[in-house]
Amino acid sequence: MDRLKNKTILVTGSAGFIGFNVSKKLLAEGIKVVGIDNFNDYYSVELKEARNKLLEKFDNYKLYRGNLENIDFIEKVFEQEKIDRICHLAAQAGVRYSLEHPDVYIQTNIVATHNLLKLAKDHKVSDFVFASSSSVYGTIDVFPSKEDFNLQTPLSLYAATKQSGELMAHAYNHLYGLRIRCLRFFNVYGPWGRPDSALYIFTDLISKNKTIDVFGDSAKDYTYIDDIVDGVVNSIAVDLDYEIINLGNDRPIELSRYIELIEKELGKKATKNKLPPAVGDVQKSCADISKAKKLLGYNPKTPVEQGIKKFVAWYKEYYKIK
Ligand SMILES: NC(=O)c1ccc[n+]([C@@H]2O[C@H](COP(=O)([O-])OP(=O)(O)OC[C@H]3O[C@@H](n4cnc5c(N)ncnc54)[C@H](O)[C@@H]3O)[C@@H](O)[C@H]2O)c1
Repeated sequence: MDRLKNKTILVTGSAGFIGFNVSKKLLAEGIKVVGIDNFNDYYSVELKEARNKLLEKFDNYKLYRGNLENIDFIEKVFEQEKIDRICHLAAQAGVRYSLEHPDVYIQTNIVATHNLLKLAKDHKVSDFVFASSSSVYGTIDVFPSKEDFNLQTPLSLYAATKQSGELMAHAYNHLYGLRIRCLRFFNVYGPWGRPDSALYIFTDLISKNKTIDVFGDSAKDYTYIDDIVDGVVNSIAVDLDYEIINLGNDRPIELSRYIELIEKELGKKATKNKLPPAVGDVQKSCADISKAKKLLGYNPKTPVEQGIKKFVAWYKEYYKIK
C-alpha cells in the first residue's frame, strides 16, 4: 500500500459493487481516487447512488459521471487529472443478461475497455488492473482452474468479452509496455452486493415468502468482498508486468448448502422451484489461488457461513427488514 501514497488511482465502475468497496479502502488509506461511472440502470440506480454518497464523504474522492464508451469524455478526465494507475472494474456484468443484450457487452466490455487502454498508453499511465472473470474457463472441467489453462470455450458472450479484454491487455503490454494485471474474480458476494446475484435474489424472495427458482445443482467458489478488495488493492500496488491472476476462495459450495445458510440467517424456509441449469451458466468453479498467494500475498479469510451472515445483516438493515 505504501507504493500508492501520493498516487492518483482511476477506478472505473466506482459506484458498482466491487468498485465502491475498492475505492472505499483506497480512500480510507488516504490515497486519491478518481471515480468514473455512468450509473446505468442495469440494476437499482438508487443503490449505486447510495454507495457513491458514502464515497463522496472523502475529500480525496472525485467522481466523473459519464460513459466509458465515449472516448472524448475519458480524454477530458485525463486532461483534468494526472492519473498514475488504473483499476478498470466497470463492465456490463452478468451472464444471463448477455443472452438478450449482446450488443451492450461488445460496447461496454470491449469498446470501452479498448478506449481506456488506448488513453492509458497515450497518457503514460504505468499500471492497469483489469477485472476479468472465472467464466473464461468455460467448458474446462479440470479443477481447480489454473491461469495457464488453454482457453477456447467460453459459454456466454459475457465470458467471450472478458477473455477479449485479457487479450487486448496483453497486446498493449507487449506493444507499449503498459503493465497489466488481469484478475479473474470467482463469484464475489457480500454487503452492498449486486441485485442480480443469486445471494441477493434468494435473500429478497425468501424474506418475502416467495418461491425461488433454483437452476441446476451447481457447486461454485464464492469469494467474500473484503478478501477480493485485499487482492485488488494489492494488485494495484504491486510491481509486476503482465499477469493473469485468479482471485477466488478455492472452496466450492453446493447451491443447496448456500441456500440453507441464507435460510438460517433469515430464520425462514425457502420454497424452491427446481429447474435445469440456465443456458450459459457455469455449473462448477474452483480457483487455484496459489499464484495470487505468491504474487499478491492473497489470503482469503472469510468462510461462507460468516460471509452470508454479514450479507443478510446488511440486507436487513439497508431495507429496514425486521
Ligand atoms: N461480482 C462478481 O461476482 C464478478 C465476478 C467476475 C467478474 N466480475 C467483474 O468485476 C467487475 C465489477 O463487477 P461488479 O460486481 O462490481 O459489477 P457492477 O455492475 O456492480 O459494477 C459495474 C459498474 O460499472 C458501471 N458501468 C457499466 N458500464 C459503464 C460504462 N460504459 N461507463 C461507465 N460506467 C459503466 C455501472 O454503472 C456499475 O456501477 C466487472 O468488470 C465484472 O465483470 C465481477
